[in-house]
Amino acid sequence: MKNIVVLVSGGGTNLQALIDAQESGLIKGGKITCVISSKPGVYALERAKAHDIPSRVIPRKEYPDSIEYSKAILSALKEENADLVVYAGFMTILDELVVREYPNKMMNVHPALIPSFCGKGYYGLRVHEEALKKGVKLTGATVHFVTEVCDGGPIILQKAVEIENGDTPETLQKRVMQQAEWKILPKAVSLFCEDRLVVTDGRVYIK
Ligand code: GAR
Repeated sequence: MKNIVVLVSGGGTNLQALIDAQESGLIKGGKITCVISSKPGVYALERAKAHDIPSRVIPRKEYPDSIEYSKAILSALKEENADLVVYAGFMTILDELVVREYPNKMMNVHPALIPSFCGKGYYGLRVHEEALKKGVKLTGATVHFVTEVCDGGPIILQKAVEIENGDTPETLQKRVMQQAEWKILPKAVSLFCEDRLVVTDGRVYIK
């Protein structure tokens, strides 16, 4: 059984999608063993508690820089014996010292079709604001492995979502979550836990 550690910073709807998938038996070969939040008091922590999942708060604000923060996260991941680390709305970029320890063992859900609207500064609502500003007709979500390049790691799954007349960043964010993120994140985690993801030359193949 693989230990899945989920990193969060906010409402935790993607965490909830993972919990729901787990409880419906859709994640074979893995179990969410810990939730780590970069902020105290966020609703994601309530979701973990409601399902008896242990959690830790490692507040970004209490660390002077990204390196010190990354060291704290790394030691927590080691203590938790993490086999898979999932960024589920985790809004902090970790130093590569963490990524190096978990090659192709950390995944992130991003609310756009990478390589569009991604990279440093593109997170949360901002991503949807930019998609609407550009006037794209399709957007969506991507689950990818985390590398030292922000949003640049091998792509695991993507799902497209149509932009509708009258969309606001908020309505679009909600639809992208419902139609894409909450579906592909549990699916990617499940594939990983069944050892069905193979990374070759920066590309992910599903066995
Ligand atoms: C989600 O839309 C997620 O894709 C996004 O933040 C939201 C978190 O929601 N993540 C990023 O923008 C990371 N670059 P949640 O806390 O309800 O899961």
